Order: sequence, then C-alpha cells, then structure tokens
Amino acid sequence: MSDSIILGIESSCDDTSAAVIRGNTILSNIAATQKIHNEYGGVVPELASRAHQQNIIPVVHQSLIKANIQQKDISAIGFTRGPGLLGSLLVGTSFAKSLSMSLNVPLIEVNHLQAHILAHFIEDANPHPPKFPFLCLTVSGGHTMIVVVKDYFDMEIIGKTIDDAAGEAFDKIGKIFGLDYPAGPIIDRLAKNGNEAAFTFNKPRIENYNYSFSGIKTSVLYFIQKEVQKNPEFITENIENLCASVQKTLVEILMKKLEKAVLELNIKEVAIAGGVSANSGLREAMLKNEDRLGWKVYIPKFEYTTDNAAMIAMVAKLKFDRGEFADLSVSATSRYDIEESFKKDTDIKD
Ligand code: KG4
Ligand code: ZN
Repeated sequence: MSDSIILGIESSCDDTSAAVIRGNTILSNIAATQKIHNEYGGVVPELASRAHQQNIIPVVHQSLIKANIQQKDISAIGFTRGPGLLGSLLVGTSFAKSLSMSLNVPLIEVNHLQAHILAHFIEDANPHPPKFPFLCLTVSGGHTMIVVVKDYFDMEIIGKTIDDAAGEAFDKIGKIFGLDYPAGPIIDRLAKNGNEAAFTFNKPRIENYNYSFSGIKTSVLYFIQKEVQKNPEFITENIENLCASVQKTLVEILMKKLEKAVLELNIKEVAIAGGVSANSGLREAMLKNEDRLGWKVYIPKFEYTTDNAAMIAMVAKLKFDRGEFADLSVSATSRYDIEESFKKDTDIKD
C-alpha cells in the first residue's frame, strides 16, 4: 500500500492548503495564506471562508502540478474535519467530498490536532520518527496540551490550558505591543535582538500538567499601560527587549510542565508540534534539555509546524492503510470532545 498517492486538504483556519503524499513522502505542500486578517488583528471567520472558496481550486491544482501527478493517479482524499472555524472547514469538507465522488476514490477524515502530532511521521520531518510512547507538547493558536502518544491513534491528553492557548498568548500580547496578526512569528523575530532579562513577568501557578496564559497577558497589559503613561515612546524604544522577555517567559511556562511530565512519567522521547513549535526560543529550550536532561527531542521541520496539508495527507495515509474511510454523509465539526476523539478506536464526535 506504500505507493498510494493521497491528496490532503486543510482549511480549518486561515490557510488554504493542499498536499500530495506518496507512501510517507510529501510530493507537494502548497498553501495560500490569507493576508486579509492582518488589518483586523485576528482571523475574521466570514472573510476566511470566502478566501478559502477563492483559493481552494488553485491551491489543489498547484499541489497536483508540483507533485507531477494527475487527478487519475489519486488513491484517496484526506481532509480536515475539525476542529476549527466551521465556515472554513465546510469549504474544505465540501470540496473533498465532491472530488472524492467525482474521482470515485475513498474519502478520509482527519483530526487537525492529531495531524499536527503525526506530522512527525512524514518522511522528511525528522531524521528518525519518534518511538512510542512519546510525549508531545502540542502548541497552536487554538490549543495547548501535553499528549502521551501511545500509538498513531492512541493518544491521551494529560494536561491542557485552562484559558488561552500559547499561540493566542503570543498573538494577544503582540497586539498590546501594536504588532500585526499573527504576532507569534514577529515576536520571535524581534526577540532575536533583545535582552530576555530586561523585563520580568509573573508566571502562573497551576496544578498538574495544566497551563494558563491569561494572567501573563493581563500583567503585560498593565505593565505597558503604566510605562506608556510615563513615556509614550516606551513600546517603540523597548520592543526588542519586550519581545525577548515575553518569549522567554512563555517558553519557560511551556517547558516547566513538559519537564515535570517527562520526569514523572519517565518518557524520554519528547516532541513538539503545532504553530508555536516554530518558535526559535522553544526549539532552543528543547535542544538544551536534550543535552541537559538526556531527552531524545523531536522538532518538526519548519514547514510542518504551522497549519499545512502535508500533515493531513500523512494522517490520511495512515488511515488509508487501515482502510478507515469516511462516509460521504460526513460533515465538518468545529468543536468536539478532543479527549474522546483522541482515544483509541473512537471517532470524531459532533
Ligand atoms: O498550528 P497553527 O498554524 O494554527 C492553529 O492550529 O491554531 O498555529 C498558529 C499559531 C499562531 O498563534 C501563531 O502566532 C503561532 O502559531 N506561531 C508562532 C510562531 N509561528 C507561528 N508563535 C511563536 N513563534 C513563532 N515562530
Ligand atoms: Zn493547527
């Protein structure tokens, strides 16, 4: 089955993406990023759906050209069923269903969060894929959780955020600094020239392996309001130090619980996944722990960190080999019980 050719489609948020995978090898991974949301400081759902509808055919077309295949070569179509913005998901879902019907090939539903984690199994994602069981710090714009990955489709969430996600914290704090959306990559870039010890922000005290990011957002807001009253140019004059200090704090919060989980569960295969796993501070902290604590660290290739269809195609390939196909009556789902859907042999619930 390894020579199956699968088209993956991702449209859960503001990136329209299509990828082609043969076996575990990605042949193409095309994305159209919607710039329209930058001026609004966040994703505007109605604009996102409309942009997906404009982008989806050109993006899929490009993915086939880049992969040097034709429609008739496709063995199956995988698509993101959820979680995400419903209007965005509906565009990818409807398109995938129609194409699967017209080509008469199986349709495969994919859980977007599982895909972020299983992106580690794409052939060129890592020199070697992680070994089960491994811990995966899954950090994106919508989710932050520590997952014990026992097998491809046997995952357990042992900790998660009780309020904002880590990516959301980067984006909202960036907004306080007047940065564009998404601010995560901008903070990362500006932090490179800043002094991370310039400012100190309080870290949350939360039980178990859970996270909280709303407190740091509020303390940054109050700090900035106070400083700007004294000096209206405070942000401009200190932006690099502010970014470096905030990034350091967010990375420390993330790493502390991950380290606790590694020690207490004694699982030393440790991965990161999701958009925030692109962050250079987090990547560096992971590598330091590889040396310091003897972890075996898995950091995904940059293009498989933020939303992409390669990870969707990867999961679809794993499901294709298991013969796990979706019914053509399947519908997109924006929210569902993530815990349940991550457990073995359970399906995504509406
Ligand atoms: O996984 P993703 O592309 O979409 C979701 O599933 O949410 O993650 C997007 C999030 C955004 O909050 C963005 O600011 C953040 O990932 N992000 C970063 C970096 N690149 C993307 N955060 C910090 N540093 C980065 N380099
Ligand atoms: Zn994502």
